[in-house]
Amino acid sequence: MIKTNYLIIGSGVAGLTLALKIANQFPEKTVTIVTKSTADESNTKYAQGGIAIVTDQIGDSYKKHIEDTIICGDGLCDPAVVEMVINEGPKCLKELIEWGTKFDKNNEGTLDLGKEGGHSENRVVHHKDQTGKEIERAILSQVQLKKNIDVLAHHFSIDLITDNNRCLGAYVLNQLNKETITFTADFTILATGGIGHLYGHTTNPIIATGDGIAMAYRAHAEIKDMEFIQFHPTSLYDKSVGPSFLISEAVRGFGAHLRTKNGHFFMLDYDARGDLASRDIVSQSIEKELSKTKDDCVYLDCTHLNMEAFINHFPMIYERCKNVGVDIAKDWIPVVPAQHYICGGIAVDQSGKTSVENLFACGECSRTGLHGANRLASNSLLEALVYSNKIYEFLTNPNLEIKKSLFEIPKVEEIEKSEIDSEYLTTLKVKLQHLMRQNAGIVRYETDLLNAKEQLLEWEKEIEKVGKIHQTNTSYYEFLNMLTIATLIVIQSIERQGNCGGFIKFKR
Ligand code: FAD
Ligand code: SIN
Repeated sequence: MIKTNYLIIGSGVAGLTLALKIANQFPEKTVTIVTKSTADESNTKYAQGGIAIVTDQIGDSYKKHIEDTIICGDGLCDPAVVEMVINEGPKCLKELIEWGTKFDKNNEGTLDLGKEGGHSENRVVHHKDQTGKEIERAILSQVQLKKNIDVLAHHFSIDLITDNNRCLGAYVLNQLNKETITFTADFTILATGGIGHLYGHTTNPIIATGDGIAMAYRAHAEIKDMEFIQFHPTSLYDKSVGPSFLISEAVRGFGAHLRTKNGHFFMLDYDARGDLASRDIVSQSIEKELSKTKDDCVYLDCTHLNMEAFINHFPMIYERCKNVGVDIAKDWIPVVPAQHYICGGIAVDQSGKTSVENLFACGECSRTGLHGANRLASNSLLEALVYSNKIYEFLTNPNLEIKKSLFEIPKVEEIEKSEIDSEYLTTLKVKLQHLMRQNAGIVRYETDLLNAKEQLLEWEKEIEKVGKIHQTNTSYYEFLNMLTIATLIVIQSIERQGNCGGFIKFKR
């Protein structure tokens, strides 16, 4: 058993920011970060466009960013949360810069601000087209300097330990030696990111299996808004399943246009904002075009843009396209929508507290009320930064009482270990991904959702039979979590009345 003061699960922007701030404030206390892959592997690392922040650029205002966020959320945002998050943006940006994050500047020497769908102004601060990688690098290098932070890579959190609606820590599998460790903590924070792998066709890396939300659900925490899955309109089209390369929305902000194979600029047929309509609308419009034309993809045309400026802003996108035979200067980029983000998750209040005592959540795994039915582009990194700060403020309040529990934590039964057949798991996972794409995608039908619910229940029974004994195989736990998340998405989609934002359901 290992005791720590703060157990943080996940090492993306949310987990790392919180760890760093707490460790700075309490040098005598211990902060443990467990993370299931390498320390830097996360959705954060792949973020391209940037962070939406109101700077002192003429024309922009908090009011406008608040309005854009609320319009995008299609009536379901919590206005108090929106106001709080957007007002805190500049403070978070200042901290990131102090920790060594480099953001691009323009010729005047001020921050270069990109534009993305749903934004009425240019307000996206960025580092080329690799903003997330730069943020992850900067914060992680600060974290690694802290003596009181332990970063345990390849440590997979299996489940939370709770007693009487209070979280006491977590069971964690050390993937290197296959030992399960019991961590006890005064406070446990879930910062486990997204769920993309559930759909197979996603912009997320394979670590995004919804583990934190599933663990919180098993601990009886409140989970909300799971039906609001965001599909990014422009992932690079290729026939393979698995993570897809993103073509940032900032490329359309830079002037690129969507066209059909025949060259039609179709977005104005759907929305007066054209290519820069909010993400839900652009993805839904592409879906409609593809079902009309029966084409496999639509195209992003950058051929009219200043290529030198383009390559300077989007070097990674330019190179990646070149590697697959697309010369952006001459060719249109083939693109399709792909799963990108989950707007719902573990319900938290404005201090990041979940409904389970001593358990907090921040970043993509949480549901704060900021995004409503559809997230505004580049508001996710912002939300993660603001909420890790909110949790920090709560945990460093001098009046905060640390209640000790007398509960005797059950030890993990070490003798009951087995490796489940990996081929069997892979087959089931592929079937699950197919089911989610077909039955819980951009457009959903009531009967498909009901069928999916039944199928998921069957798989749950099947996997329970084969997996009764304690496993040392993380794919088994990931698959269980994916099943739980799929069921939550499907059930909450069935329950949702009325279409809004990224959610469209028809009776059939
Ligand atoms: P993550 O960064 O995903 O980190 C989660 C961490 O939890 C990882 O370290 C993971 O290994 C760990 N973990 C998960 N499960 C377990 C477990 N069981 N045990 C131990 N560890 C676990 N947002 C923007 O605002 N602007 C953008 O420009 C932008 N671009 C994007 C581009 C791409 C391609 C993608 C995929 C996302 C983008 N997003 C963007 C969304 C944004 O990057 C994410 O929502 C955000 O980074 C999430 O941060 P996080 O810290 O919550 O989670
Ligand atoms: C992008 O660069 O298009 C992604 C931005 C986001 O997810 O907010």
